[in-house]
Formats: sequence, C-alpha cells, structure tokens
Amino acid sequence: MEKILFVNCCIRKEASRTKKLVDFLLDELNKTGSYEITELSLMDEGMAYLSEGFFHQRDGLLAKKDFSHPRFRYANEFVQADKIVVAAPFWDLSFPALLKVYIENLCVEGITFGCNEQGCFGMCKADHLVYVTTRGGFYDGTPMEMGSKYIEAMCEFFGIQRYDCVSAEGLDMGIRPVEVILQEAMERAKEVAADF
Ligand SMILES: Cc1cc2nc3c(=O)[nH]c(=O)nc-3n(C[C@H](O)[C@H](O)[C@H](O)COP(=O)(O)O)c2cc1C
Repeated sequence: MEKILFVNCCIRKEASRTKKLVDFLLDELNKTGSYEITELSLMDEGMAYLSEGFFHQRDGLLAKKDFSHPRFRYANEFVQADKIVVAAPFWDLSFPALLKVYIENLCVEGITFGCNEQGCFGMCKADHLVYVTTRGGFYDGTPMEMGSKYIEAMCEFFGIQRYDCVSAEGLDMGIRPVEVILQEAMERAKEVAADF
C-alpha cells in the first residue's frame, strides 16, 4: 500500500466546497484499494509560525542536526509520504495563511530539502502532489492566481516530480449553479485519480 498524506486546510470544514471536492477525489483513490490515507487537519494543529523564540529554537536544533525534535514532525511526515493531496480554498489570490504556516514548518534544510555548491535540491519521496482548490471568481491561468502556482513551485523545490491542480471556479459569481460547477471539477478529479 502506498501512503497518501492528505493535508486539509479547508478552514470552513464540512461547509467547505473545497472539502466536498477533495472528499470526492479521496473516495476515488480509496476505491482502488491501493492507498493508505492519513489526514492532517491543519485547523486542529495549533501550529506556530516562525518568530522570536520559536525561530531561535529552530536555528539551535538545525545547528545540532537534531532532526528528530517534535517540532519537525510535519517535515518528517511530509518527506516520507508516497503521494500528497493538499486542499485549500482560494483566499486573497492564494490560500489561507494557515497553509503558509504549514509550508514554513515543512521547509527544513536537512529534512525536506538540502543545499550544496550547485544550489538547493528537494529530498521528498513523493512523486506526485495534487492540489485541490475552489475559487469565488475566475482566476485560472491569470497572473493573479498565486495559490496553485505557488504550490507547484514548492513541489519543484521539494523534489516532487508531478503536480496537478483540481479546481472549481466562479462559485460565488451566481452565474452557474455551484453544484454544476463542482460536478465538472469532480470529472477532472476522476481523471487525476485514475492517473495518480
Ligand atoms: C477570506 C476569504 C478570502 C477570499 N479571497 C478570494 C479571492 O481573492 N478571490 C476569489 O475569487 N475568491 C475569494 N474568496 C472566495 C472563495 O475563494 C470561495 O468562496 C471558495 O469557494 C471558498 O472555498 P470553501 O467553500 O472551501 O471555503 C475568498 C473567501 C474568503 C472567506
């Protein structure tokens, strides 16, 4: 069984349309019987961002190469996953700050990436990351869409070869029924699940 890490940043929890979409994707993956899915609900973690003492503690541990400290548990879990699914709504042209705090906790030199004379290189085992998001307006493919674009760049940084985004757009525009838009995105999710 391959291990999927599901990073859930659907802040509105069960009211979230992004959660509905990612649940559909995870159900499709579950049906194959090939994966063991572990969910990390960021809303329930109480994660800290880097500031003052928390920052200095990190520096001290890195100097000692103490990578097994509990504060590095997110990075250690992420680096070992075979596949990764991340779900977050489109907020303020990218994603909620909570997901950025998680990424800040993931970026640990010596765990998720390394550096040498040539530059930095990714150390993650996962070969595929799927990002699921929903947007109120229409931003796909425009310079203002910086959520999917950022996560794709992080994949490259972490050494994850394949990236896919499953998105639904225009959910708050009142132009088309939300259920119809989500249904279309679920078709895309089905394709991505079939080629996971
Ligand atoms: C704090 C906040 C910021 C948002 N920022 C944007 C935005 O910049 N662009 C946009 O199109 N929609 C924006 N939206 C709308 C959400 O992208 C949209 O409602 C999305 O479907 C929410 O996902 P959810 O149902 O999973 O919570 C924002 C919503 C919230 C609550």
